[in-house]
Amino acid sequence: MSIKKRPVILDGDPGHDDAIAWVLAASMPEFDIKAITTVAGNQTLAKVTYNARRIAALLHLDVEVAKGRAVPLMSDLIIAPNFHGESGLDGPKLPEPEHPESSLSAIEMMAKVLQESEEKVTIIATGPQTNVGALLLTHPELKEKIEVISTMGGGIRNGNWTPAAEFNILVDPEASYLEYHSGVPVQMCGLDVTEQAIVYPEDWERIRALNNPVAKTVAEWFDFFFIHLSELGWKGATLHDPCAVLSLIHPEIFDIRDYYVTTELSGLYTRGETVADVYGITGNKPNCKAVVGLDRQKFVDYLVEACAKFEGWEVNL
Ligand code: RIB
Ligand code: CA
Repeated sequence: MSIKKRPVILDGDPGHDDAIAWVLAASMPEFDIKAITTVAGNQTLAKVTYNARRIAALLHLDVEVAKGRAVPLMSDLIIAPNFHGESGLDGPKLPEPEHPESSLSAIEMMAKVLQESEEKVTIIATGPQTNVGALLLTHPELKEKIEVISTMGGGIRNGNWTPAAEFNILVDPEASYLEYHSGVPVQMCGLDVTEQAIVYPEDWERIRALNNPVAKTVAEWFDFFFIHLSELGWKGATLHDPCAVLSLIHPEIFDIRDYYVTTELSGLYTRGETVADVYGITGNKPNCKAVVGLDRQKFVDYLVEACAKFEGWEVNL
């Protein structure tokens, strides 16, 4: 039975969990990856773009990597070297890029893919939402060509960079606000689900044991990513970004609710908070699919299954 492919743009700030999300996406026959776009977040734009090009080389993705905005729409940039290291993707050696950076900006690339696609396009955005926000501002006429914006960002119960705000949304609250008020379908994988998506060392030893070049790289990304998380007291790696990929293909293992969500822009303590109307108090119609839970074991099993697909993979290190 032939699997129906959906056109996809991967937008992110790799970043270890972005990188693992892209391995997941590349392993899925359901996805036709049309482009990769990068945004400053975990590290500077130059570093995450170089990382994105190396991940594309590792995965033999024959797609252009287009550099996005170096700074948020209306904020100063925040980066996260404590989690991802000086390079933004510290740990295993990666192949050098196989292709030059695209001559197009991320916004131009996103617009080109949307304009040229006969079908609606899925955007999987796992960093600050800056590029998507800029796209919505620059090309409102292309909103109708977006199937869904599947985001990793926010948190209904709590933040992780401030008590109220999750990192991606805090970096660019205005971009997130534009998304939720765009009328475009949004799927939100916030900390409510991603802090349940915990991968334990014994889980990523299963991946290492697969003994193919991609699985080995993923295991070594976990090794590094877990260093700071363990210092914070986590017993496993909270694997944020892959939730925004897997929830599109296997929604059955996730708990997905219809909520009205908006983003706080001006609170002294709450700027960047994603505020969800869980009880329908505001009377606003739901504007997003909020992913709030998952079957952790099935999540891990799908991750292992994805890495196993790279059996016999050739990588030029
Ligand atoms: O808060 C977690 C998010 O911030 C993840 O997307 C991680 O990669 C960083 O971008
Ligand atoms: Ca990310």
